[in-house]
Amino acid sequence: MADANADVRRKIMGFIVSQAIHAVCELEIPERLAAGPATTAALAESAGADADALRRFLRVLAAEDLVTQEPGDTFALTPAGRLLCADEPGSLRHFAELMSGEAYVAWSRAAHSLRTGEAAFDAVYGSPYFDWLAGHPEEAEAFNRAQAGLVELRLLPLLEWSWGGAGTVVDVGGGNGVLMSALLAARPELKGVVFDLPHVVDEASRTLDAAGLGDRARCAGGDFFAGVPDGGDVYVLAQILHDWADDEAVAILRRCREAMPGDGVLLLLEQVVPEDGGPHPAKLLDLHMLVLLGGRERTAGEWEALLGRGGFGLAAAAQGPRSTLIEARPLHHGVTPGS
Ligand SMILES: C[S@@+](CC[C@H](N)C(=O)[O-])C[C@H]1O[C@@H](n2cnc3c(N)ncnc32)[C@H](O)[C@@H]1O
Repeated sequence: MADANADVRRKIMGFIVSQAIHAVCELEIPERLAAGPATTAALAESAGADADALRRFLRVLAAEDLVTQEPGDTFALTPAGRLLCADEPGSLRHFAELMSGEAYVAWSRAAHSLRTGEAAFDAVYGSPYFDWLAGHPEEAEAFNRAQAGLVELRLLPLLEWSWGGAGTVVDVGGGNGVLMSALLAARPELKGVVFDLPHVVDEASRTLDAAGLGDRARCAGGDFFAGVPDGGDVYVLAQILHDWADDEAVAILRRCREAMPGDGVLLLLEQVVPEDGGPHPAKLLDLHMLVLLGGRERTAGEWEALLGRGGFGLAAAAQGPRSTLIEARPLHHGVTPGS
């Protein structure tokens, strides 16, 4: 019979694993192990760590299958542990960093979100997350790095979408331009606009220039509650609406609807929460959105209702490995929700 007491204790102590991963990443231990197994002493010396503490951190990571403990006080990286190296494709190193900083502090007041349905972050830090990031450049950079790392797998359904006939794509809340760079590189016929808050788009310009795509893309700074750039055939909202409660999300949809032509297309790259009672990463992300931003992940029915309020009908959905691409069309163009 399963040991329920041990199981519940392990769940309660889950943050220890998360924080241990972050601490080990901060000292770049995964990168130091990427070349091959190493002794605790050698690792500690090169990383500036206490050897005894390092051994104890690594044995926790060994239990999580991120490293293996070998004879002779030696540790080796597992394939899963490689994902903690910064330069590994699909790396989760920056995500680990993001989850351990201000997000972790906000989570210490999660009960505030439970009581009020509002972001605990605002109660802890005194301002909404994106406003706070605007005044904290280092943390904003860490946020953008984490998004860029996660986007690689997330954008796959977008690359596979049938882009025939589209000329200009506007990425609303396009962050540091990593998604647009990948899209323009894969689709040479497209031109792009990256729209985000003024302090974010400078980095997008640098990303696009570094990829040699500066002549096919323009970056625009602004507030998507005030308006978004017009002139696009396709508008992308990638992990934007989940940051916001319904009324704000509807306002963003309406600004997109106002900016786009009647035969334009809106593509959402988001999570869809399954209706069943089983485990799913979107259910964890949903709580994270609540605690950090007062946002939410949505079920298929909730997406459809939200799009309808914003002036769009759901036209199609395609499931990718880490996200769902939801294609929507302006409602007056003969698409009714659900068709
Ligand atoms: C979760 S990130 C998603 C970034 C990117 N689309 C992706 O998929 O990786 C949300 C983005 O929304 C931007 N954002 C937040 N508030 C905004 C506003 N009022 N106007 C424009 N952009 C905003 C943030 O700066 C951030 O880049």
